[in-house]
Amino acid sequence: MNLLFVCLGNICRSPAAEGIMRNLFEKNDLSDKFFVDSAGTYAGHCGELPDVRMRNAAQKRNLTLTHRSRPLEEADFERFDMLIVMDDNNYAAVERLAPNREAKQKIYRMTDFCTNFDVDYVPDPYYSGHDGFEYVLDVLEDACEGLLNFVQAKKLI
Ligand code: 4NP
Repeated sequence: MNLLFVCLGNICRSPAAEGIMRNLFEKNDLSDKFFVDSAGTYAGHCGELPDVRMRNAAQKRNLTLTHRSRPLEEADFERFDMLIVMDDNNYAAVERLAPNREAKQKIYRMTDFCTNFDVDYVPDPYYSGHDGFEYVLDVLEDACEGLLNFVQAKKLI
């Protein structure tokens, strides 16, 4: 099963979600059943490592983020089973790129998998301070746990 996390720049939220989810699959001996990647709806940071503030915040949680930013492309709807977005703007941008109804049905909101946080989007931390990055990681960790339960409950693996 192939999971793609999507945000705007692909340098903060989605590469962090990718790293957390991959870590979770490794811990649960599920790495061979999943491919995890991330992409951005805006190509302006293409090729860059995640924002240094996100890398530092993640590293404090023993998570090393090495993804290189890349733009979302239409072929991703073929390659991936779920495209998981961080906020409404991402949702609208991904939906615009979807080639058909079947592709649109692959779009999910990250916060729909949260069980501890009662929120409906993962805020863009790019212009916020340190606390913003910690908060985003807390929400993403909660959502990734829920996503793991979701794919297992759905017997998608
Ligand atoms: P992300 O954060 O979507 O979580 O990667 C952002 C990164 C860069 C920009 C906006 C959001 N930007 O405008 O360059």
